[in-house]
Amino acid sequence: MQDKINEIEKSIDEAVKDVQSSKTLQEIKMRFLGKTGEISSLMKNMRDVPPEQRPSMGKLLNALREWTEERFDAIEKRIKDFELKKKYKEEKIDVTLPGRVTEDGAYHPNTLIRNELISVFAGMGFEIFEGPEIENDYYNFTALNTPADHPARDMQDTFYLSNDLLLRTQTSAGQIRVMENKKPPIKILSPGKVYRSDDDATHSPMFSQMEGLVVDKGITLCDLKGMLDEFARKIFGANVKTRLRPSYFPFTEPSVEVDVSCFECGGKGCRLCKGTGWIEVLGAGMVNRHVLEGCDIDPDEYTGFAFGMGIERIAMLKYGINNMKLLFEGDVRFLKQFKGER
Ligand code: PHE
Repeated sequence: MQDKINEIEKSIDEAVKDVQSSKTLQEIKMRFLGKTGEISSLMKNMRDVPPEQRPSMGKLLNALREWTEERFDAIEKRIKDFELKKKYKEEKIDVTLPGRVTEDGAYHPNTLIRNELISVFAGMGFEIFEGPEIENDYYNFTALNTPADHPARDMQDTFYLSNDLLLRTQTSAGQIRVMENKKPPIKILSPGKVYRSDDDATHSPMFSQMEGLVVDKGITLCDLKGMLDEFARKIFGANVKTRLRPSYFPFTEPSVEVDVSCFECGGKGCRLCKGTGWIEVLGAGMVNRHVLEGCDIDPDEYTGFAFGMGIERIAMLKYGINNMKLLFEGDVRFLKQFKGER
């Protein structure tokens, strides 16, 4: 028996010699101390030992088991310590390391102006309507009192996609879509991209407009003027005034060109206003009765006004941008300057 015990002790020493992890140690431990382990089976064999030898054998076996348990406990403690230290080392965080900096973005000047316009007009009760960028001839021209061969078509160099389809040249096309579907009172604001074959420092083949349309009983040019005054004060400054100059658009009658007093020099005349004291900002007018009729709105009962402005133009004026291309090139050095603007 003593031989057997020595043998087991030896094989335990052998087995635990190179253990590195508590998992393998646990497996080895089961091999000896588990229910069907070597020591446990020796204990089970006690049944076959003659009764007079049992006490001394029992003592030996108990001693072996205690020895084995202590041995495993000691190794386990050593391994646990080692594993813990290793974990600490691996998970150590260097709190002195500087954080990663993510640079703040900036709103594009177009977005800034569009949001500002929306907020000003939403404050006056306008709702947003967005029409399609691909329009047909009817919405972009004919329904806007600009039939085929009308000379006013030459005011806008159009990109045609087919005989009938085109890239809309003006957000005014949305006026018709709204009036066909909704009866007065109407008060909508329609932002969006428009396209014209036109390209220089102040024109781009793609640009953005903001259209407004108000139709109700008793709407007059005075309402338009009052609303434009409010718009000019909010966008360009509290002291800015507006003036209307006669103009021509087929879908408004009368039509006006709207100027604001120069917010740079206060009207005295400077480079921005080219010495005139006034800056042209948008086109507007009273909705032509033919346009109302075409949308089944009785022009003897209802009147309305419409206005349309170029968002890039407002952005260029407001931020002192001298070339429209800057608004489309996406140059970060340019865009960075709008950081923090809301
Ligand atoms: N659609 C016109 C343009 O693009 C602007 C405009 C809108 C004029 C509404 C009058 C009324 O030039």
